[in-house]
Amino acid sequence: MTPATLQSHLPKTSDEIRFILDDKVHTVRGGDPTTTLLNYLRYDLERTGSKEGCAEGDCGACTVVVGTLKGDRVEYRAVNACIIFLPTLDGKELLTVESLKARGGSLHPVQAALVETHGSQCGFCTPGFVMSLYALYLKGKVPSKSEIEDALAGNLCRCTGYGPIIEAANLMFELGASELPEMGKKVSALKAIARTDTLAITGKSILTGGEKRYFAPVSVDALAALAEENPIATFLAGGTDVGLWVTKMHKELSTVIYVGDVAELLEITETKDAIEIGASVSYTDAMGLLGKYYPDMGEIVRRLGSVQIRNSGTLGGNIANGSPIGDGPPLLIAAGAKLVLRKGGDERTILLEDYFIAYGQQDLAPGEFVSRIIVPKPHQHLTFAAYKLSKRFDQDISAVCAGFGVTVEAGKVTAAKLAFGGMAATPKRAANAEAALVGNSWDKATIQNAMAVMKDDFTPLDDMRASAKYRSISAANLLMKMYLESTGDTATRVVGEKEAAHA
Ligand SMILES: Cc1cc2nc3c(=O)[nH]c(=O)nc-3n(C[C@H](O)[C@H](O)[C@H](O)COP(=O)(O)OP(=O)(O)OC[C@H]3O[C@@H](n4cnc5c(N)ncnc54)[C@H](O)[C@@H]3O)c2cc1C
Ligand code: FES
Ligand code: FES
Repeated sequence: MTPATLQSHLPKTSDEIRFILDDKVHTVRGGDPTTTLLNYLRYDLERTGSKEGCAEGDCGACTVVVGTLKGDRVEYRAVNACIIFLPTLDGKELLTVESLKARGGSLHPVQAALVETHGSQCGFCTPGFVMSLYALYLKGKVPSKSEIEDALAGNLCRCTGYGPIIEAANLMFELGASELPEMGKKVSALKAIARTDTLAITGKSILTGGEKRYFAPVSVDALAALAEENPIATFLAGGTDVGLWVTKMHKELSTVIYVGDVAELLEITETKDAIEIGASVSYTDAMGLLGKYYPDMGEIVRRLGSVQIRNSGTLGGNIANGSPIGDGPPLLIAAGAKLVLRKGGDERTILLEDYFIAYGQQDLAPGEFVSRIIVPKPHQHLTFAAYKLSKRFDQDISAVCAGFGVTVEAGKVTAAKLAFGGMAATPKRAANAEAALVGNSWDKATIQNAMAVMKDDFTPLDDMRASAKYRSISAANLLMKMYLESTGDTATRVVGEKEAAHA
């Protein structure tokens, strides 16, 4: 953009954070814009029910529920207050464990169920469990076993054990199914604080006193203009990486541009041939459509982090951070995904695999941002499979993550994309193994050849997640697993894998 057009696209701003808390508009002015919601609750509002266990999104002790206006309804979701920044609450409704107490003295059915089933001992984890269960309760229907297990995968309890807590989840609706919010009232309250301009906050760092700036534009043009004007700003989406830079690494982020309110980046659209996912779409919102066309991809996203992480985290952030161990890139590369990048008024589209240049180096210019991801729909000859190897089934980073897209026509492989995370300094395709497949029969001998040459594709590392040897052997074995599954053989499946997927 020229300076004159840039100026005309720079948005009107306001500097007041407004959200609904206990049915009232809560307003915040000034302060450090990278203050976490948890610190604000505990230190400023003295709402100390939400606990800090890990300050990195792992334990769930800080779980709160956030309501977001979606058309004519409010969507309530559990998130980790310890890693989200306070200003991201602007325009939303916040419910903390204290909000349940405000309902008039008696225990909420979720709390009563936990008491009834002896679901709490030392109690440190309990407010977090209450809020995760409360988010499940707000869905308004008795949850299935797998929904309960998913909902609790991001909450750790050291002393009670999960049996009684799961029992409480089964019991909560029996103790009162009518305690659901009045939707009309909630929608009106959120519409009244909906923003049409950019939130722009200037505050002082609580650590150094230095100036910090935070922008939350609501349109992609405003975002593009702000990004060009502040080329060294840190983009913030779900904050499931960026939040930890502040809570664990004590990084001072002097300028933050929040992309989570940008309407165009929150869109998911389906065309005849592709799914287009805006960079700010949460995993939770993306997994339905991804899972419809690529069931394996939906299943891996279901295992990514926890419900709280998936409610905040985005595929856009997972790609943009350039991590070699992110789960999204290998799966999307195998599906042939493209990335749309925008800088100023210009957009360019690249193959997702070309975005990752080297460790810590991506094809992203200063002031440029990820706009959306285009995932082609699978064609009739494509066999697609995805696998995640990690020490725990849920809420764990992969040692190896694999996405395989193989086209087989008349018994012969005509195209192959075998993409891996955890095997190199970037998400990477196995070029030698792919070459060993293409042009050959889709049979065991071809797979064995491809497995043998895969050793030339990667020199993985030893680290705390896995040894280099484990990574090499298991990456090759996953290809055989895919082949066996494609022939209908399910003997290689581990308990919980795939069968755990639910609609
Ligand atoms: C407890 C926990 C468990 C996790 N488990 C997993 C897991 O199982 N698998 C996995 O892959 N990851 C996991 N993660 C990592 C994390 O959830 C992902 O990397 C996530 O996708 C990041 O997305 P975000 O929206 O939170 O990004 P943010 O943290 O907001 O941003 C991440 C990076 O992307 C940049 N960015 C964000 N949006 C844009 C944009 N539109 N354009 C340009 N740059 C942008 C940011 O500046 C930053 O560099 C976990 C994290 C936590 C805390
Ligand atoms: S304090 Fe552990 S997830 Fe927030
Ligand atoms: S009751 Fe003690 S940690 Fe859960």
